[in-house]
Amino acid sequence: MWFPEHLCAMAMVCLLDFEAYAEKYLPKIAWDFFAAGADECSTRDENILAYKRIRFRPRMLRDVSMLDTRTKILGTEISFPVGIAPTGFHQLAWPDGEKSTARAAKAMGTCYIASTYSTCSLEEIAAAAPGGFRWFQLYIHRNRAVSRQLVQQAEALGFQGLVLTADLPYTGKRRNDVRNGFRLPPHMKLKNLEGAFEGDDRSEYGLPPNSLDPSVTWDDIYWLRSLTHLPIVIKGILTKEDAELAVRHGVQGIIVSNHGGRQLDGAPATIDALVEVVEAVRDRVEVYLDGGIRKGSDVLKALALGAKCVFIGRPALWGLAYKGEEGLQDVLRILRDEFRLSMALAGCASISEIGQDLVQFSKL
Ligand code: FNR
Ligand code: LAC
Repeated sequence: MWFPEHLCAMAMVCLLDFEAYAEKYLPKIAWDFFAAGADECSTRDENILAYKRIRFRPRMLRDVSMLDTRTKILGTEISFPVGIAPTGFHQLAWPDGEKSTARAAKAMGTCYIASTYSTCSLEEIAAAAPGGFRWFQLYIHRNRAVSRQLVQQAEALGFQGLVLTADLPYTGKRRNDVRNGFRLPPHMKLKNLEGAFEGDDRSEYGLPPNSLDPSVTWDDIYWLRSLTHLPIVIKGILTKEDAELAVRHGVQGIIVSNHGGRQLDGAPATIDALVEVVEAVRDRVEVYLDGGIRKGSDVLKALALGAKCVFIGRPALWGLAYKGEEGLQDVLRILRDEFRLSMALAGCASISEIGQDLVQFSKL
């Protein structure tokens, strides 16, 4: 043994190292659920591949001795332009679940969007990281009283934004979840929905079948507006037509998202859809993106194409699976450091210097 021992230990160098760890150590049913895409997973995979078709036009000899990655979303400063996308069931990755997520996001100075389908309650999340910057992601249920109560509770608990997910009138067909008969283990609960569906058959994801409301339309934005003073962000927009409708219905932000390729297989990669959404919005509201962000240079490409900030879904779950709060902090730190380095090598000292002239679509 002539190698020092620390060089033999598993070094976590990039986000894919956390993915490999999660795949190796999570129970198969949990790994499959996190990894799932709809049908053939073509959109899930395209989210990642599409970044490889974009090349930089890096600029040289600019002073990059001082790098500033700070930005603001809806008026609140974050330390770098990567937040945590809403994902359900964090206890499948780590026993403390969303409490760990909230602490890691606060420690790294960024935004955490907590899902309706959390395995810790909104109170527990708020108490775990007091003063943290959080938004609440809503799925509208047929039982509107349940949704109203959640929105009002989130506002009372200091969540600073409401994210309405628009792309899940029904759950996409994820083949491995069907094969595995995926369910939440009995000791985990959807804490925000406990008691909400008393007496019903809890079958799908531990929820009553058909509990989500597929009749939701743009008019329901007005209903949400009547319930809360929080800014409303709509998640799941992929076209210029819907971007225009979102602006006209008075939302404050748009997340370009295809739900990590878990809904309509064949939907475009989000980085490809971003361009038409940004053009349609013409700076009237903020535009964000999620899907396929796996390294710092992906973040730089998304910002160059007009996203104010991006969010990570699966990589956050891999971080939790690795070491809870600490593991998620590692993921965020690696992404922040890679982003800083990419900025510097592209000749940008601050976020305001990142513009569309920094990228080109290659003919690959
Ligand atoms: C999600 N996503 C999601 N979105 C949402 O609005 N509410 C939710 O509860 C969930 N739950 C969820 C669970 C799991 C396991 C995954 C992988 C995804 C979608 C999520 O917010 C985001 O759009 C994608 O995960 C982004 O893609 P990446 O970063 O995973 O590639
Ligand atoms: C999913 C739901 C929970 O994508 O949003 O699995």
